[in-house]
Amino acid sequence: MSQPSDKWSSEAYSAAAGFVPKLTTTVLSYLAPKPTDKILDIGCGDGPLTAQIAASLPRGQILGLDASASFIQTAQDKNSSQNCNFKLQDCRRVAECAEAVDGSWDKVFSNAALHWILRDPSTRDAVFKDIHSALKPGGAFVFEMGGKGNVEAVHATILSVLVANGISLSTAREACPWFFPSNVWMTQQLQKSGFEVEKCELEYRPTKCTAKSADGSGGLEGWVKLMGAEMLNVVEENKRGDIVRQVCDVLETVVTREEDGSQFLNYVRLRAVARKI
Ligand code: BEZ
Repeated sequence: MSQPSDKWSSEAYSAAAGFVPKLTTTVLSYLAPKPTDKILDIGCGDGPLTAQIAASLPRGQILGLDASASFIQTAQDKNSSQNCNFKLQDCRRVAECAEAVDGSWDKVFSNAALHWILRDPSTRDAVFKDIHSALKPGGAFVFEMGGKGNVEAVHATILSVLVANGISLSTAREACPWFFPSNVWMTQQLQKSGFEVEKCELEYRPTKCTAKSADGSGGLEGWVKLMGAEMLNVVEENKRGDIVRQVCDVLETVVTREEDGSQFLNYVRLRAVARKI
């Protein structure tokens, strides 16, 4: 679930956003794996969901691709099996992986990864073209990612705090690693890439932050540090801790629930099922 610069570790991801591979009931129901399906998983991370899908493919197989060497190492160590394989691959250029784009796949799946993979406007069309090439005619592209408005309070706060600390708005925006499109944008993109769109929907899904660990890796602070790392990197290293504190201070009253002090981020999920024409 990442871009090539490897900030990922399974431990840090699980501490900051361990809920992501768990909140997948709807997208998995759309994937509806059949026992013989051959499925390509784009941006598989460290592979727990890939392995879960593999368990419903007794005569099929799944291949997970991710740009993070750390995630792929963990996936190979912990989640691979006879019908579940993983490969290091920048998913902005899936065509580099010949076995992925050979038109033999029944389904292409992706969860919580395309908002990173589609960040750069110049490589977006190629991502959809490669996924289209991967599929058999009639094959399905089934995915969930962040949609328009996803984590918008924390997104806007990081930008504002950077600007308040002397960074230009254009520099802060440029450093943002995410793309959260609307369902209208996505429908148009899928159609122009040769897909028939069966579903393309947004769901507002407030999600409770993980508990903060003693080493500071979880909670809102851990989320901002890990997920916002590219934006924080525009300031010198010795100032980043202070920036994270300012972000969390501003967000405090916005995201905290009065009844128990828990903190929620307003996730918005974009889910789609699109068929190769
Ligand atoms: C998401 O899964 O929606 C997400 C992941 C990282 C940063 C922001 C949002």
